Amino acid sequence: MQTVKENTWAKRESHSPGSEDQKKSGLDSIRIVGGKCLKGTITISGATTAALPLMCASLLVDEPLQLTNMPVTLGDIRTLTDVLNELGVTSALRADGVAILHARQIKSTTAPYDMVRKMRASVLVLGPLVARCGRAVVSLPGGCAIGTRPIDLHLAGLKAMGAEIVLKDGYVEASAPDGLKGAKIDFPIVSVGATENLMMAACLAKGETVLSNAACEPEIVDLGECLIAMGAKIEGLGTPVIRIAGGGGLKGATHAVIPDRIETGTYMIAVALAGGTVRLKNARLEHLTALIGPLESAGLQIERKDADVVVSRNGRPLKGADIMTKPYPGFPTDLQAQFMTMLTLSEGAGMVTETVFENRFMHVPELCRMGANITVHQGSAIVRGVPRLKGAEVMATDLRASVALILAGLVAEGETTVNRIYHLDRGYEDIVGKLRGCGAQIERLPAED
Ligand code: EPZ
Repeated sequence: MQTVKENTWAKRESHSPGSEDQKKSGLDSIRIVGGKCLKGTITISGATTAALPLMCASLLVDEPLQLTNMPVTLGDIRTLTDVLNELGVTSALRADGVAILHARQIKSTTAPYDMVRKMRASVLVLGPLVARCGRAVVSLPGGCAIGTRPIDLHLAGLKAMGAEIVLKDGYVEASAPDGLKGAKIDFPIVSVGATENLMMAACLAKGETVLSNAACEPEIVDLGECLIAMGAKIEGLGTPVIRIAGGGGLKGATHAVIPDRIETGTYMIAVALAGGTVRLKNARLEHLTALIGPLESAGLQIERKDADVVVSRNGRPLKGADIMTKPYPGFPTDLQAQFMTMLTLSEGAGMVTETVFENRFMHVPELCRMGANITVHQGSAIVRGVPRLKGAEVMATDLRASVALILAGLVAEGETTVNRIYHLDRGYEDIVGKLRGCGAQIERLPAED
């Protein structure tokens, strides 16, 4: 049995800050001088949006859960580790990307506001806690820049499984003193988080749970495969109907986190914009089918090379393409901002329609300040290609808007400074090092004291 030293961190050799200096470094900025094409190799990190629910799965069992290929330097991973430590989970995050989480005993069933507000995915402790302990008090995560982000589907599902739900003073109080029971849950809309929360809770419920209109994202499949390795009986992963047998009896396991498909897509778009040739190591092209078509029609060459993907654009002009974001396997909403940046310099025009979140165009005004020609009508934006972008001082508002501005800076004339980059540190491991390693003129500037 793996022993877990009390809550140990290890600083990974990278430019991302450890949690202790996260606050300060979050005010850093990134300066880029545009015009360099990209040549080299980038290793894709483990997927943040897979790692977070996987970490919460450790609450379901009193044996250690070992996760490998974890993006351990990311802010969100450190924040969620703090939340889990608060609940009594001992954790060890190692520099080689291995995280060992051991919920031998749950010492608290409350996830406090000051932790949940920093990282809304903390709400994923709700299902496992109620399932394991019969009770959970979790702060409502609140909205964020891209939308109101309600959790009504999470709560309706737990209610259907027999939990009593009370909303009080900004907290959700969920209780199921006699344990949860299996239920048939039909989601009115596809929700990644609700599917994850309820799939985890259902593992310890009495009887079978059937999730219909469930999310099909690769991160859902990854979580389900880890739960199966822990002893759960789950069928239908990657399809809209997931069956979980329930009954508990889970044990510790070891699981490798899938590579980050959004990071992969981001760097593919970076090459489309800047030109050059980059080998993406550990990239899983099969997780990006909806992106390949629009990128190839825009002018990017994409080819598999063994376990890697080589992307290149040498001289061919970029052409506009239309996209509409949808739940998987549709075009991912988390790549919408990055793709829009590419459209700003494409010949012709492209229409971008955002159907998943209600306010995910905050990158538009900043791109327009750099000379882009974008018109927004409610959930759609028409992007008319311009000959060039001009470097500027810009501000980031959310994780994907931040990286869209970094991509714009790679090709803008002159210097671009992206401020308030704490968002970036939440979802992109060492983005400055990875881009600089391919020839980009990019540096991180510490905030003035
Ligand atoms: C996950 O968020 C991801 N975050 C998001 O990535 C991603 O954009 C999103 O899934 C969609 O793929 C993590 O995995 C940590 P949803 P989640 O529940 O689970 C509505 C990034 O940039 N909804 O699938 O919160 C909701 O408002 C982040 O990496 C309800 O109405 O997304 C949204 O309109 C951003 N009620 C839609 O469903 C609910 O109870 C999809 O949300 C839950 C969701």
